[in-house]
Amino acid sequence: MLISAAWGDAEPGAVSHVRTEAGLWLNRLLVTQFRCYAQAELRLAAAPVVLTGPNGAGKTNLLEAISFLSPGRGLRGARLSEIDRRTPGAEAGSPWAVAATVMTPEGPRDLGSGRDPGQASGGHSSEAANASGRERRLVRVDGAAARGQQALAEVLSVVWLTPQMDGLFREGASGRRRFLDRLVYGFDPEHSARCNAYEHALRERARLLKSGHGDAAWIASLEDSMATRGVAIAAARLATVERLQRACDEAEGPFPKADLGLEGAVEDWLRGGPALAAEDRLREGLAARRRQDAESGGAGFGPHRSDLTATHRSKGIAAELCSTGEQKALLIAILLAHARLLTLERGAAPLLLLDEVAAHLDAARRAALYQEIIGLGAQAWLTGTDAADFDGLQGRAQFFAVNDGAVGPAAAAF
Ligand SMILES: Nc1ncnc2c1ncn2[C@@H]1O[C@H](COP(=O)(O)OP(=O)(O)OP(=O)(O)O)[C@@H](O)[C@H]1O
Ligand SMILES: [Mg+2]
Repeated sequence: MLISAAWGDAEPGAVSHVRTEAGLWLNRLLVTQFRCYAQAELRLAAAPVVLTGPNGAGKTNLLEAISFLSPGRGLRGARLSEIDRRTPGAEAGSPWAVAATVMTPEGPRDLGSGRDPGQASGGHSSEAANASGRERRLVRVDGAAARGQQALAEVLSVVWLTPQMDGLFREGASGRRRFLDRLVYGFDPEHSARCNAYEHALRERARLLKSGHGDAAWIASLEDSMATRGVAIAAARLATVERLQRACDEAEGPFPKADLGLEGAVEDWLRGGPALAAEDRLREGLAARRRQDAESGGAGFGPHRSDLTATHRSKGIAAELCSTGEQKALLIAILLAHARLLTLERGAAPLLLLDEVAAHLDAARRAALYQEIIGLGAQAWLTGTDAADFDGLQGRAQFFAVNDGAVGPAAAAF
């Protein structure tokens, strides 16, 4: 099934003259055996995409599929095997896959990803994929197997906002670190490989310390890896937060200004001195804490314990104490600041996956969001159950209706 969109009241041609074809956007998306989709193929223009349909239709699933065109575990943080399409009474089917043609300022690129059906050990596939438990995700770029998920971030930047993130400021720091790291990927694609290497060394060190008979030289080399990567991670996060802060400061419009902060020992050292000194402190600190870390099973400090903080500036209130709507508005403000920065620095805004965002905004903020998306030339993907929430995008976006695992032009009855 190959589908292109309805454009609301305007003809597609009427849209193309108000939008440039430059930027970063999906021209084609193919999802196979992905949750409720046996197969769906979309042909797209550069404009924002609106997906409407009833609850359970498959809107978020499409956004999740796109999120796998970037490093990590997707916008639901799901187990890879959970995503394979299941049908009642049938055995779990073949592994899911997502493929897309991405239009970039440098030209079209083909990206693909999917669950590795093979064994986790040996062969090309294990090298090409990043482990998530025993499951592995294969990555292909321009038809060839890529060595890691970082290859995706080198081509495409994807950020998202989902209803599950409503609790981001109230819940544990790990969600905020993941949120920030995804923003960092946009500026620094190596950040994803760096974080994976750090976490691998952290886990391996914890395993050796727990076993009680790890080779001291091997543990020291893991700590060395944690020190160099850990400081690079903290430095990349700090640089991103500083730039985001400036972009937030310059923003106009109804979204609240956020005062951002990054808390953590390594960040403090970096603020107070050179990176090499921070590496030495982290290396020495880890070596000195082996006994405690053996008991606790982790590592007492390092960038895996840092935290992103945000304050609603005009109210002077920490984000976690703001109303749900205010917290969402703060997150949107941060994402828009990020998109503006990427547009300036890399020539294209990221893909914005905005799941059920429009329904929760008041009319002024909704209009401002649409205005920003159009101004940025971003291919934002917006979902909702009520088509009326997207009236402000008529003629400026491509509209699809999603129903029971099928996608079609919004205007057509199917
Ligand atoms: N592995 C799977 N195999 C088959 N179907 C699945 C699988 N995982 C989830 N689903 C189904 O996919 C359907 C669509 O889910 P999705 O979250 O995309 O809906 P939605 O359109 O975003 O709905 P809502 O408006 O409620 O958010 C759900 O009915 C869900 O049960
Ligand atoms: Mg949904």
